[in-house]
Amino acid sequence: MKALLPLAFVAILCAAGEVRAQIPTAYTNLKVLPKDIDRAGIIQEMKRISLGTGMRCEGCHVGPPTLEGMNFASDAKETKRIARAMLAMVKAVNEEHLAKLEKAPAVKVECATCHRGQPKPPAIVVAP
Ligand code: HEC
Ligand code: HEC
Repeated sequence: MKALLPLAFVAILCAAGEVRAQIPTAYTNLKVLPKDIDRAGIIQEMKRISLGTGMRCEGCHVGPPTLEGMNFASDAKETKRIARAMLAMVKAVNEEHLAKLEKAPAVKVECATCHRGQPKPPAIVVAP
C-alpha cells in the first residue's frame, strides 16, 4: 500500500500538523460515518480516503489548501457528494455482502482497492 502511494503519503504527512490545527471538534453533516465519531476518528477516516484516492482535503471540501476557515460541512463540491456515495457503497460491500460469506474475508474493500491512490480508478484490462 505504501509502495503504491508514495506521493500521496508524503503530501498527507506534510499536511498532518496543519490538518489537526484546523479540524473542528463537532460535525454537523455526517450521513454515512457515525454521527458520534470523535476528532481522532474523523481524522483517521479522512486520511484513509485521501490516501486511497490520492486527493487532498480541498479536493472534496470548500476552502484553501492551508485549510484556513475550511467549510468541511458544505456539500457544494460534487467530489464530496460522490465520495459520500462511495463511502456508503464500501460500507455495504463490507458489512452486508461480504459479511454474509461463510468464511469472513481476510481483507476489507477500501477506496484504495479500486482507486489505487488516484482520483479516477485506473482501468484494469484482463486479456481474454
Ligand atoms: C474524496 C473526498 C474527501 C476528501 C479528500 C476528504 N474528505 Fe472530509 N469528508 C468527505 C465526505 C464524503 C464527508 C461526509 C461523510 C458522511 O456524510 O458521513 C466528509 C466529512 C468531513 C468532516 C465532517 C464535516 C461535518 O461537519 O459534517 C470533516 C471535519 C472532514 N471531512 C475533514 C477532512 C480533512 C481534514 C480532509 C483532508 C485530510 C478531508 N476531509 C478529505 C469527503 C472527503
Ligand atoms: C468498486 C470500486 C470502487 C471503490 C471501492 C471506490 N470507488 Fe470511487 N470511483 C469508482 C469509479 C468506477 C468511479 C468513476 C471514475 C470515472 O468517472 O472515471 C469513481 C469515482 C470517484 C470519485 C469522483 C472522482 C472524479 O474526479 O470525478 C470520487 C471522489 C470517489 N470515487 C471517491 C471514493 C472514495 C472516497 C472511496 C472509498 C470510500 C471510493 N471512491 C471507493 C470506483 C470505486
